Parts: sequence; structure tokens; C-alpha cells
Amino acid sequence: MSKILITSALPYINGVKHLGNLAGSMLPADVYARAMRLLGHDVLYICATDEHGTPAELAAQVEAEETEAYCDAMHQAQKSAGDKFKLSYDYFGRSSSVSNHKLTQYFANILEEKGLIEERVSQQVYSNADGRFLPDRYVEGICPNCGFEKARGDQCDSCGKLLDPIDLIEPYSAVSGSKDVEIRDTNHLYLKQSLLSGDLLDWVNKAEGWPHLATSIAHKWLAEGLRDRSITRDLKWGIPVLNADGSKREGFEGKVFYVWFDAPIAYIAATQDWAEENGKDWKSWWRTDAGAENTKYVQFMGKDNVAFHTLSFPTTILGSGEAWKLVDRLKAFNWVTWYGGKFSTSQKRGVFMDQALDIAPSDYWRWHLMANAPESSDTAFTWEEFQLSVNSDLANVLGNFVNRITKYACGKFQGKVPEGGKITAAEEWLLKELNQRIPLLISFYEKREFRKAMSETRAIWAAGNEYLTQAAPWTHYKTDINQAAMGVRVGLNLVSLFGILAQPIIPDAASKILDAMNIPENNRSWNFGSSETIAHLIDALPFGHEINSPDVLFTKIEDTDVEIWAEKFKGND
Ligand code: MF3
Ligand code: ZN
Repeated sequence: MSKILITSALPYINGVKHLGNLAGSMLPADVYARAMRLLGHDVLYICATDEHGTPAELAAQVEAEETEAYCDAMHQAQKSAGDKFKLSYDYFGRSSSVSNHKLTQYFANILEEKGLIEERVSQQVYSNADGRFLPDRYVEGICPNCGFEKARGDQCDSCGKLLDPIDLIEPYSAVSGSKDVEIRDTNHLYLKQSLLSGDLLDWVNKAEGWPHLATSIAHKWLAEGLRDRSITRDLKWGIPVLNADGSKREGFEGKVFYVWFDAPIAYIAATQDWAEENGKDWKSWWRTDAGAENTKYVQFMGKDNVAFHTLSFPTTILGSGEAWKLVDRLKAFNWVTWYGGKFSTSQKRGVFMDQALDIAPSDYWRWHLMANAPESSDTAFTWEEFQLSVNSDLANVLGNFVNRITKYACGKFQGKVPEGGKITAAEEWLLKELNQRIPLLISFYEKREFRKAMSETRAIWAAGNEYLTQAAPWTHYKTDINQAAMGVRVGLNLVSLFGILAQPIIPDAASKILDAMNIPENNRSWNFGSSETIAHLIDALPFGHEINSPDVLFTKIEDTDVEIWAEKFKGND
């Protein structure tokens, strides 16, 4: 048993997330957390809303709300969407918490003491009409790289290049639309990442178990040479810049830390809040001088977050010179696209987490998104494939199996597990399958290879169907009731096994199955490792054990549903 700390990239506060965000960080982190808990590990899964920066202020402005009130409401909305998707966070915190203010200021001070932070004069876009500086997304203009007309100050949405607001051609204010802007000098804090290039390179070279996507992105940035980055912004909402003694820092009155400086620190701060609220110890998860040297830290994120997690945040951690935990395993995902294009909030293209649950239960989405996880390339979401996942994998392969054998057992064997007959070739074949597939399945979960874990799960369900076809208790019933009983008994054991194995991915259906099978809560974990325990899986239920047939587990999606949804969510181009 080991301690596993899990974090998923903190979702920006500006609106309930779409399915692509869910599939690339929170959902896989949840599936992994659940699987590791079932294997008996001591798991802590932390997430939070990422509440600072221009996205938060701009979104609040659109809603004509105070930023703080907007964040309070959106935090609740995101938390509830996560709960409904059965995301099993141990804690869902906020980057705007008091603890994160303190810890961010602490890190900034210690980095400055170590000579890694320096105040520099920098040029910023200033809007005369708005009477303020325009950081990041507050300024828009023509992309100097590709000519796109609505490039944002921090990044061009068309060519993807990271930008500096002062490079935009014909800049204008995203606040007022005013073109009356100029470039002014003002001071900001710079994190001298370049000084740590060597340490970062050594550390990335030692990384084990990162997917190629993650190491290649980290190496690409390291090869280009790390630039010193400004870690403060001219904004009101955020974490203020203070002196070590807590007093206001001169010249930084209208400034706060850059969102990408404070957000990853919130992984730690949210753990502190979790500890505080639950009477637990956070240090044994985060401080290598207090027990965390034995903690395995696993992060989940989309590919656009990799540089921040492999270079920027580690700069903060390594630069502090203190015993903070660095990430051990990093899982990065490509994009889920909407029919090959982008999800878009403004154009209402694609499905968002809250809408998704009006369409279908969370299990359906969880299964489909993980079976098609964008691990080696981007994956296009289509309604047709969603329908196929639900109708074929869930309804036909799993649902029918459970239904068929439990109904039959209730009809012909009074809903009790019968004593079986002789082992035949069918049971031998089944055991061989399980012996091979269950250890593989577990290793895929351990390696966070979700597509493979899902296809192995599907193969195990299919083996169950194949077994029933071979064993055919309904055929034997009239001539050899013992043989029929054998098929029913093994079939019922398979139902309970399928419920146990399905828990990380479709938790609701899994508990329906296990409840119907009367499997006590404390008997649902994954303690099968050896072939002996696997052999026992087909006769684990005692003779006479009572079972029920669960209510309909999965409802098929009709072609007409697909047509309606396709029209409704296609977006207005
Ligand atoms: N909010 C960022 C995004 O959605 C992710 C922040 S991850 C953290 O891309 F580490 F900074 F918290
Ligand atoms: Zn561009």
C-alpha cells in the first residue's frame, strides 16, 4: 500500500467546463483515484477552482457581477457539476482561499530571498479611456505572427502562439473597445527561470512514467531556453504583492500575482484547507521532510498545461530550496474536439458539463469519454460514437449480460446462487481469460493507460457473454439441472465481478449491480492478484446467497435523439 497524491489541473472559474476539459484532467484523475483506492492505496485527490487572472474578471464583467461574488457562485456551480459527474475529490478548494494567499506570498518572498525574483521595469499596454493597464486578455489586436484579427494579449487563438500584449498590432482595449492605448513603463516582479534551467533539465531527464507528450513538450521549452517571466499583473482581483513582513510593497498597489504563479501553489493550499477542515496532516503529502518522500504525486492535465507543470511550478518548488514535493508522474492529454473543431462557449458549440447531464446519466459520459480518451492524439467527439458506446458497450454487452442471467436466476433458481455441477471446458476457458485479462486491466490502470483499461474491461464483459453462450444454462435446464446450475452460478459470480471491476469508470451502474447482488460495501475492493484468487472469482458467492435483478441499467440512445442533439449543439457559425 502506498500514499498517492493526485491533482487535476484546476479548472478556470469562468464558467462550467465543457466535456473536453472534463476528459483531459478531472475525469481521468477521478478514475485513477477510484482505481487506486480499490487497490487499497491511501489516496488523496485534490482539485480546486482557478479563480484569478483576466478570465475571471472578464467573465464577471460579462455577467455584470462583482468578481468575488461571481467566483463564489461559479465555484458552487463547478463543484455541483463535479459532484453530479461523481468526481470523487477528497477536496475541491479555491485558489482564492486565505491559505493560498499566504502560501503564494510565502513562496514569492522566499524566491526573492534566494535571488530568483527581481523587480524590473517593463512595458505594458495602458488604456487612457479605461484609466488602467491592460494585461493579457484585456487587450486584443492583430496577431503579429499570423495576422488573425482578434488575437488576445496572452495568446493567439488562431495560431496558438504565446504573445506579449505589447506585440499586438493595432491593439485595443477588451474592456471598452477603445483604441486610445499607449505603451507605458511600470515595474513588475520577474521570476528568473533561466537561472534554474540546469536543475530543471536534470529533473526532467530523470522523470519516469511521463507520457511522451509531456516529456517532449518540456524538452522543447528547455531547448528554446527558458525566459525570465513576469509573475505580477496590473489587476485588482488576485493575490496582492506584499513584503516579507506583510506590509504592502511599494509600487505594487494596483498589482497582484500572475494567475499561473498562484494557481499551482493552490494544489498545496487546498491540501492545507482539506487538512484543516478534516483534522488531518497536510505535510505528509507535500513535505519530503515530513513523510512525503514516500508519497507518489501524480498530476493530470491537458497538453496546454504541461509547460507550466514541468517548468514554471517546478521552478517555484526547486527555487525555494525547501523540502517541497515535486510531481512524480505526469499524465497529459491531447484535446477532445467537437467533430474535429473547437468547443466554444460563446458560439454554443459543444456540450458543457451541466447540459450533459440533462442528456444522459454521468456513467454514459464517463464510459464514452474514457474509452476514447485523447491519449495519443486529439479525439473527435461525435454523437454517433457516443450512441455506439452506450448502445453497444454498456447496453448490449454489459447491461444485457447482467439482465439475462440475474432474471434467469430469479425465475428458475428463486434468486439464490445454486450449487454448481462439474467444471467443463467453458469454465476452463473463462478462467484462462480472466487470469490473463484481470492482471492486465490492473496494470493499465496503474500505468494510467485509460483507453487500454477500457478496452480490457470491454473484453472481460465480452468474455462473460461468450461464456454464457458456451455454458447455455437455458439449454441444459431440462436435461441436466446441475449443469444449468453451474452456468447460473458462474454467471452470477461474473455479474458481481463485473460490478466490482466497473466501479472506477461507471460508479452508479456498478453500485446498482453490486447492491442487487447483495455484495456488502466492504467486499467490493480489488484484492485479486494471484491466479488462485482469480480462480476463486467464479465461485466467490456462497451457495444460497440471495440476489435480485437490478432495474434497467442502461437505456439505449435512439437515432432520433442523436438528430435532435446534433442540431441543438452544433453551434451558430
Ligand atoms: N486553469 C488552468 C487551465 O484551465 C489550469 C491551471 S492548473 C494549475 O488551463 F496548476 F495552475 F492550477
Ligand atoms: Zn496568430
